[in-house]
Amino acid sequence: MNNHIPEACIVLFGATGDLAHRKLYPALFQLYQKEKLNEKFAVIGVGRKDFSHEKFREDVIASVAKAGDFPTEKVDTFASHFYFIRMDVTNVKSYHELKDLADELDSTYALGGNRMYYLAMAPQFFGTIPTLLKSEGLTETKGWQRLVIEKPFGHDLASATELNEQLQKSFPEESIYRIDHYLGKEMVQNIQVIRFGNAIFESIWNNKYISSVQITSSETLGVEDRASYYEKSGAILDMLQNHMLQMAMMVAMEPPGGLDPKLIRDEKVKVLRALRFYNEDEVEKNIIRGQYKEGKMNNKAVPAYIDEENVDPASKTDTFVAARIFIDNFRWAGVPFYLRTGKRMATKATEIVVQFKNGPMALYHEHNDHYQPNLLRIHIQPDEGLSLSLNAKPQGDFPALLPINMNYCNNCQNELNTPEAYEKLMHDCLLGNSTYFTRWDEVALAWEFIDGITNAWKNKDIPLYKYTSGTMGPLEAEELLNEDGYTWWPPTNVRNEIDK
Ligand code: BG6
Repeated sequence: MNNHIPEACIVLFGATGDLAHRKLYPALFQLYQKEKLNEKFAVIGVGRKDFSHEKFREDVIASVAKAGDFPTEKVDTFASHFYFIRMDVTNVKSYHELKDLADELDSTYALGGNRMYYLAMAPQFFGTIPTLLKSEGLTETKGWQRLVIEKPFGHDLASATELNEQLQKSFPEESIYRIDHYLGKEMVQNIQVIRFGNAIFESIWNNKYISSVQITSSETLGVEDRASYYEKSGAILDMLQNHMLQMAMMVAMEPPGGLDPKLIRDEKVKVLRALRFYNEDEVEKNIIRGQYKEGKMNNKAVPAYIDEENVDPASKTDTFVAARIFIDNFRWAGVPFYLRTGKRMATKATEIVVQFKNGPMALYHEHNDHYQPNLLRIHIQPDEGLSLSLNAKPQGDFPALLPINMNYCNNCQNELNTPEAYEKLMHDCLLGNSTYFTRWDEVALAWEFIDGITNAWKNKDIPLYKYTSGTMGPLEAEELLNEDGYTWWPPTNVRNEIDK
């Protein structure tokens, strides 16, 4: 891995789409601004709109402006590197025009034939585009070729395998960068450092000292305008198959032998190999699915999922899922991992809570209402940070206890400079660092696990519990933990703790 500023032509499919505008252009601009991208780069936007290069640049400028207040001259120079090509991606001929433009920019900007192809568009073209890129000779340059692919990567193991086989005819595995944007989040990457950079944690990071792990990713938004996609995915494919399992892997992996991407990814995949796969009865017992009803968010009435635009009024799509999973290996045997995610929940927050076992003698915790187990909270968003809750003695009246928190906030001082997930991931891809991208064996195992759940949902009459919008999900998700003597810890706010 090297850290020199990479030169490359970025070919962006889906250049007029939402992701490109909201995330990718601002992310590229940040890289440019921070000089992680130098003048030797060009972006070819591919889309179906009839845009000129100038119109496209105006669009890029507008999307960067929405993300922040930046010097006009800098943004204009940045945008001058952008070119647009109108293309029907299924039409072979249009690849010839794309090739001509890419070759021309290669020599104008001295890009060394390096190319990043970014597929930020409808998944039905994920197979076609790489095939045609190769067959029409775009990948034959003297530089590197990398393919970045957004989710969804298939909709089950069979479709993902088919897509993967098709991709690998054009790009080898090491050139395929499958995005899971949660892996680009500062505090998700920080899990590794917190765990392996601190001997005090690593020695207690196991079933002798940890009683359970909870991972919550709650959203306040509903399905918005994505019903056609979401109706087929639900929360389980949209969030659990990828982001939630990825976070669980980061918490559970063994220390890697080094920081090489292969070593880290090897350890992550081992977690999935140890994951307990469920039969249909076990799915019923361990996985709770829910769907939001109407309710109030910020005092404003919001509709039920089934009344949202383009949603089937009889839809059984899950907008919430809570899962109790087990990793059957030496470190984690017997420790439940509870994952929950959903839309239209009370707060927007992603938080990991590691709950430690109580000490061997009940000197303080019995008969004391204030006692709380030690919790290590990893705040992923919106606050980024870490807090450790301990019990201490309040001033004076012993033997009462006072729960105290030790907090660290990662983005309190310099919020604007915290790199966005896409900024980090695009930079990593340009540098050829695949650590925080998902490897095929990880994706396949995740699908195998999820297929077991979705098949049980199809074959067995497993209930879909309704929950009121603006709550933390159905009661049954609470009961899932109560059965084991736990409750969900509500997401907390590290910033407020520090301000106290
Ligand atoms: C995406 C899902 O992958 O992640 C969305 O498709 C979800 O449905 C989003 O809203 C959540 O991402 P973040 O970064 O806002 O937590």
